[in-house]
Amino acid sequence: MMTVTRARLLARALAGCAAIIALAACTDNGTNGSGLSPALIAKGKDIFRFETFGNETFWTDTLRMHEVIEHAVDPTTALAVGLKVDTDSLPPEVVAAIQSGAISLTDPATTVALLKLNAVVGVKGTVQNVNGRDTLVRVGITCALCHSTVDNSFAHGIGKRLDGWPNRDLNVGAIIALSPVPPSGAKAVYNSWGPGKYDPRFNFDGKNGPQVIPPAYGLLGIHRITATGDGNDVAYWNRYVGVTQMHGHGSFDEPRTGVHVSNPPDVISPLLPALQEYQLSLSAPAPPTGSFDDAAATRGHEVFAGAGQCSTCHTGLLLTDANTHLHSPDEVVSEPEPNGAPSYASRSATKMYRTAPLAGLWQHAPYFHNGTAATLEAVVDTYDAKKGLHLTAQQKADLVEYLKSL
Ligand code: HEC
Ligand code: HEC
Repeated sequence: MMTVTRARLLARALAGCAAIIALAACTDNGTNGSGLSPALIAKGKDIFRFETFGNETFWTDTLRMHEVIEHAVDPTTALAVGLKVDTDSLPPEVVAAIQSGAISLTDPATTVALLKLNAVVGVKGTVQNVNGRDTLVRVGITCALCHSTVDNSFAHGIGKRLDGWPNRDLNVGAIIALSPVPPSGAKAVYNSWGPGKYDPRFNFDGKNGPQVIPPAYGLLGIHRITATGDGNDVAYWNRYVGVTQMHGHGSFDEPRTGVHVSNPPDVISPLLPALQEYQLSLSAPAPPTGSFDDAAATRGHEVFAGAGQCSTCHTGLLLTDANTHLHSPDEVVSEPEPNGAPSYASRSATKMYRTAPLAGLWQHAPYFHNGTAATLEAVVDTYDAKKGLHLTAQQKADLVEYLKSL
């Protein structure tokens, strides 16, 4: 049986040469070992971080978020709703002024200044001089809003970008509810979601069952995308979100759910290949040194493959059988949904769940599509109870260490 470390290294090598361990599979012929194109990856990175697909027509013209930000969102408020600031976009004198307190973090004008510097992760602003004053005239959002965070190296919420890491502090619902436009019933739903969650189907079916924002890393080789495996590739879902949730320009048609949206002109289609390539290049982050007990993790791997029966579904190096089948809700331990919400699967195209890939678990609590397990201990307890596994306390603890090592 493979030791934990070897399994992890192999999985990582599969995820490409961005991994710390460059195996012989890495070549310098213009592609990396995974066959991904560096040129497309670079283009996709820009799209992931900065492209709005023209969704300013929604966030500015419809929701009037530029006025909300300009009048009411000082940096302290922005950080409180989980927005992140990218220090690499800040000139040294701005960093120094924030440090010395010379720049006010309780003045919305500072938020506008940060937007002008393109430093608010996932928020793209156009700032123009109007009557001698910097004014936010357009604002839109990018993929990085939900699927990037920062390393907090400067202060909480301020640091270097970590693309693909879900922003579990981001309160998307609270942000949308700042707009004067949505009716109060919808606002109540938005305000019920809380940090790190978003319901990407509410605007179609009116049901309230927010999903945990998942990582956009570790997806290379997985051909069923989203918790319900709705798409066969990342681009399927990128088009869905880009058009139907971010309200960018393009079209999306899904006969299985009856979602048909057309928002011309088509800005998104030509950008999807590069956007997908970038996401596929993002490998799951390795667990921090010393964050798990190696010997216990090796024992936990035995539990995973044996008494825990985990490897019946979490198969192969990617630890998922997603590419061959999906699972019906009654096989899956994360239902019923919290707060009486309807089954998320029932709202999807497949009506099933995908076995989640497990790389980078340490980074992205809470777990399951609906976040019902706050910790890996809770995940293991849930399986133990619902699948009647009768694991000993030692087996459970070892299994948790294994999950922390992935
Ligand atoms: C408002 C927050 C938000 C924005 C903006 C957003 N997403 Fe997501 N994303 C989510 C949520 C929530 C899910 C989970 C959906 C599900 O599983 O049904 C998701 C799912 C995904 C997945 C599937 C991951 C997996 O494990 O299969 C990928 C990939 C992804 N998003 C990439 C993107 C890209 C690229 C963009 C920009 C075009 C984007 N997202 C914009 C919230 C967001
Ligand atoms: C019947 C197939 C099946 C078995 C057996 C199974 N899983 Fe899962 N696992 C899934 C599915 C499906 C999901 C996604 C559930 C969801 O999104 O709510 C999942 C999700 C998870 C997650 C959450 C991942 C995330 O990103 O939130 C963890 C952790 C996990 N499983 C660990 C285990 C462990 C440990 C065992 C053994 C004790 C196990 N699984 C057994 C199918 C299975």
